[in-house]
Amino acid sequence: MTPDALKALVRTVPDFPRPGILFRDITTLIADGEGLAATVDLLTQRAAALDVEAIAGIEARGFIFGAAVAARLGLGFLPVRKRGKLPVPTIGIDYALEYGTDRLEIDPHLVGQGSRFLLLDDLLATGGTARAAALLLREAGATVDHAQFVIGLPDLDGATMLAKEGITTDCLIT
Ligand code: PRP
Ligand code: ADE
Repeated sequence: MTPDALKALVRTVPDFPRPGILFRDITTLIADGEGLAATVDLLTQRAAALDVEAIAGIEARGFIFGAAVAARLGLGFLPVRKRGKLPVPTIGIDYALEYGTDRLEIDPHLVGQGSRFLLLDDLLATGGTARAAALLLREAGATVDHAQFVIGLPDLDGATMLAKEGITTDCLIT
């Protein structure tokens, strides 16, 4: 399946979760067995070319793809969670995204010093979420040089925000 065929499986919902936002909904893509498999295949091929030793996925949609790619590559998966979800002491960071603000948290004990993490999420908009996740992982001692997304929204220029942090961006579809 080509990236264009995958793009056709993404549903666009206007004015969600706020007026003026064009929401790119991946639930239609993952409901399609071939589409889901092709997405995970492509992400896995491209992640395999990177020098990484663990994958961090961002709650919630980043978990769907991140854990699948990690399992394919035989790498560990670290969930970057929204506030209050982890049952142990955490470190956290507040951040802004296209349509709001939130807080991400991780268990720092799951991050090996200097371990090279690939950050994975479904969608890159402003880059605020991915930047926050990368800073949090780095605070815990990780190296984060690469981020991968199923969808990139180029108008919002998230790749530039990540480049300023020394992070390369790879999006399957735009
Ligand atoms: C969405 C998406 C990314 C983020 C991208 O997550 O899954 O994580 O927004 O936006 P940004 O590049 O402007 O930061 P959301 O916070 O809506 O959470 P969800 O995955 O739980 O739906
Ligand atoms: N996260 C941030 N902006 C988004 C958008 N336009 N569609 C889906 N998820 C998003």
